Amino acid sequence: MALLSAKNITKIYQAGSHQLTVLKNVDLTIKKGEFVAIIGKSGSGKSTLMNILGCLDTATSGTYKIANKNVSHLTVDQLAQIRNEQVGFVFQQYHLLPDMTALENVMLPLLYAHKTEEFSIKQAKKMLSLVDLADRIDHLPSEMSGGEQQRVAIARALSNNPNIVLADEPTGNLDSVTETIIMKLFKNLHKKQGATIVMITHDEHVAKQASRIIRLHDGKVVKTKK
Ligand SMILES: Nc1ncnc2c1ncn2[C@@H]1O[C@H](COP(=O)(O)OP(=O)(O)O)[C@@H](O)[C@H]1O
Ligand SMILES: [Mg+2]
Repeated sequence: MALLSAKNITKIYQAGSHQLTVLKNVDLTIKKGEFVAIIGKSGSGKSTLMNILGCLDTATSGTYKIANKNVSHLTVDQLAQIRNEQVGFVFQQYHLLPDMTALENVMLPLLYAHKTEEFSIKQAKKMLSLVDLADRIDHLPSEMSGGEQQRVAIARALSNNPNIVLADEPTGNLDSVTETIIMKLFKNLHKKQGATIVMITHDEHVAKQASRIIRLHDGKVVKTKK
């Protein structure tokens, strides 16, 4: 069964007096447990699509369902709730809170979901061990390398056990050695934990490491291949 299903998604931005059609009749389905890369050039609409898939934004038209629930026409508050329950995000710029330690950053989604502090600490430590950062839990983002910060961000994305992990150019700011570490982590999460991962990239080498590639060109899905 499809975990994510987008049908005929169009997104039009109003830019001053003219309209910009950024996504054009996009159809895609992603099954539970898949590791999918969405690849396309800069400006092809990848981040716009990710925002819709992650319930950060809604499409101008079309239908989008998560776990069979139609989320196309929800209010901002309803979208926020679905997002908290279903999605963990990883961004190119990590987006960690600078005044919080690694542990506190990873605890945030749990506290938002009204988990107890005791449970949140325990779970956050477990997630930081999973990304091999058990010895960095008290570090601030400024005291960690880019790769370490991205691993904290991945631990945070996973902490509340989301149905889906959405990563937008997760290795875009990293050197090739660190990129390999992050990609290995995603592949392991997919294989060993059964995580559903949708990763956005402009890099063929990164995309090839996913189990399926969806190509976006000028706002349209052009080809889906193994
Ligand atoms: N909020 C917005 N308002 C107007 N235009 C936007 C907005 N966000 C993105 N765009 C435009 O939409 C196109 C696709 O952007 P984006 O989805 O960020 O592409 P990608 O992530 O593939 O680089 C770009 O031309 C961009 O300038
Ligand atoms: Mg982008």
